[in-house]
Amino acid sequence: MNIKIVNLSRSFRVNGTQVRVLDNINFDVRENEFVTFIGPSGCGKSTILNILAGFISPDSGFIYLNGKRVSNLATIAAYMVQKDLLLPWRTVLGNALLGPEIRGDDMSIARREAEELLSNFGLQDFINSYPHELSGGMRQRVALARTLLFKRPLLLLDEPFGALDAMTRFVMQNLLLRVHKKYRKTVILVTHDIDEALLLSDRIFVLSARPARVKSVYEIKRATREREVKENLKEKIFSELKEEIGTVFRNGEV
Ligand SMILES: Nc1ncnc2c1ncn2[C@@H]1O[C@H](COP(=O)(O)OP(=O)(O)OP(=O)(O)O)[C@@H](O)[C@H]1O
Ligand SMILES: [Mg+2]
Repeated sequence: MNIKIVNLSRSFRVNGTQVRVLDNINFDVRENEFVTFIGPSGCGKSTILNILAGFISPDSGFIYLNGKRVSNLATIAAYMVQKDLLLPWRTVLGNALLGPEIRGDDMSIARREAEELLSNFGLQDFINSYPHELSGGMRQRVALARTLLFKRPLLLLDEPFGALDAMTRFVMQNLLLRVHKKYRKTVILVTHDIDEALLLSDRIFVLSARPARVKSVYEIKRATREREVKENLKEKIFSELKEEIGTVFRNGEV
């Protein structure tokens, strides 16, 4: 699928004054592409995903899906919001099965599939646990599994690994790359982390401080899409781009 976003703008009323958060945001996403938005806290990253998912409307601007104008991408997107939002009264398996339940799938097939996915995510011993019994990293893995089980071609992921320690983060990043490849997803990820953006993305959109605009776009031409995080780290482009994006940040240009 091909997504094109044209002149997306949005303001919020804060304490009686209108604050412009998104200022003519333009970008496109290609089929099976992995793109990342990176930008300072409060610049409007979650607002972009909220608009794409149809949670809120833009004040102006257009969203095109395969050349046709649509009001949002709700029909093709699974959205993992910034907070994991697991349902506390449901077990790990129950949370993971939300999508298939809403869709009215055959639940015995869905349950087997969810159990397999949760096992791949290292949660086989916690399928019947409740969210409050899990660590932050485990909760994020459940939320990611749930997002995948919605079986939508587009994943909107808002800082999915935000609260994780470095080791778990690395494991999860690898898992996400494998998911991207295996299920041929298109991914729009939001992160604060330059390393994460560089390790995972085909293209990186750097946003300015509020009101957010797309400041610069970096295309990362990998030697191969059959990649693992560790291999990406070794690429020369990684250190070069890290330096360049880091400089843009340090100079306060974003
Ligand atoms: N529903 C809302 N009502 C009022 N203001 C909002 C609303 N949603 C977002 N904002 C404001 O818009 C700005 C951008 O918020 P947003 O959550 O998109 O930032 P962000 O880039 O995702 O930040 P972070 O990196 O900290 O998650 C903030 O100033 C926030 O207060
Ligand atoms: Mg956010």
